[in-house]
Amino acid sequence: MKVLVTDPIADAGLERLREAGHDVVTAYDVEGAELREEIRDAAGLVVRSGTEVTEELLAAAPNLVIVGRAGIGVDNIDIDAATDHGVIVANAPEGNVRAAAEHTVAMAFAAARSIPQAHARLKDGEWAKGDYLGTEVNNKTLGIVGLGRVGQEVAKRLNALGMDLLAFDPYISQERADQLGADLADLETVLDEADFLTIHTPLTPETEDLIGTAELERLGAGGYVINCARGGIIDEAALAAAVEDGTIAGAALDVFAVEPLPDDSPLLGVEDVVVTPHLGASTEAAQENVATSTAEQVIAALNEEPVLNA
Ligand code: NAD
Ligand code: MLT
Repeated sequence: MKVLVTDPIADAGLERLREAGHDVVTAYDVEGAELREEIRDAAGLVVRSGTEVTEELLAAAPNLVIVGRAGIGVDNIDIDAATDHGVIVANAPEGNVRAAAEHTVAMAFAAARSIPQAHARLKDGEWAKGDYLGTEVNNKTLGIVGLGRVGQEVAKRLNALGMDLLAFDPYISQERADQLGADLADLETVLDEADFLTIHTPLTPETEDLIGTAELERLGAGGYVINCARGGIIDEAALAAAVEDGTIAGAALDVFAVEPLPDDSPLLGVEDVVVTPHLGASTEAAQENVATSTAEQVIAALNEEPVLNA
């Protein structure tokens, strides 16, 4: 059967699909009518975060059985429309968790020690040793919004580096938080207590713009915000203004409301906002994991077998 792959995934996943006898067609950077034509005879579709799987696209795919998301977030897939069309949506919820957690820790240090800023100036020939007085994470409080898979891995790592853990997650048990050594609290308390605030929720109507001007004011002057979850959870204009005017100390962002991040984004002009282009899952191991796991699920669905992560 034809499996259309519209965002690049690791070769291991493509190979796995071919070994199972499927006709794997890659169509990267294809959009609109061309994509609708390409999907017409496909039984499987594999995407990462680049392809918007809309009602219009699903309506053009009468033979589609499954959309496999080689990663965690399914906010680029219209789940209701998929359900209406009888199409299974399955993600790869485990394979890139450690990569995302490690990137979050790296971003926390990048922001706290101004590593990208100092690096850029030294590469420009400037020895700016006197301009950077950083913040240690040791003995500071990490505020975690969303204590799920990635949030828990970040918690373990930063706790091992001396941070106290305080989390806001209405859907997690106190028992699980206790196992991690984390206290649960409401968002206001987390903002009041945290030195570093790290976001690990999905983007939902509930989390959209969860962090805006009022929340950043509560976090306060020494605070850092890290977002390696989804753009849109933090109000970007409010964040840029809060870092610029010293309401908070800095921010590190891997994800943006609009990706690729537009050249005229206010975030790019703010010195103490560190940015990476959605690299959280970009390790060899993570990409191999999510590609093979997604391939397995597409194969299962096309064999009419149970799909684990649907
Ligand atoms: P998860 O589902 O395991 O955990 C999400 C947690 O958020 C859950 O514990 C849930 O209870 C909590 N939550 C949901 N709504 C909430 C709300 N309104 N307030 C507070 N908490 C809430 O997901 P995960 O695997 O940990 O992934 C977390 C995020 O990271 C997702 O948005 C995912 O897409 C993103 N992610 C990004 C990258 C990257 O490349 N930057 C890589 C992996 C994951
Ligand atoms: C995810 O949700 O898994 C991440 O955004 C990683 C990605 O696919 O780039």
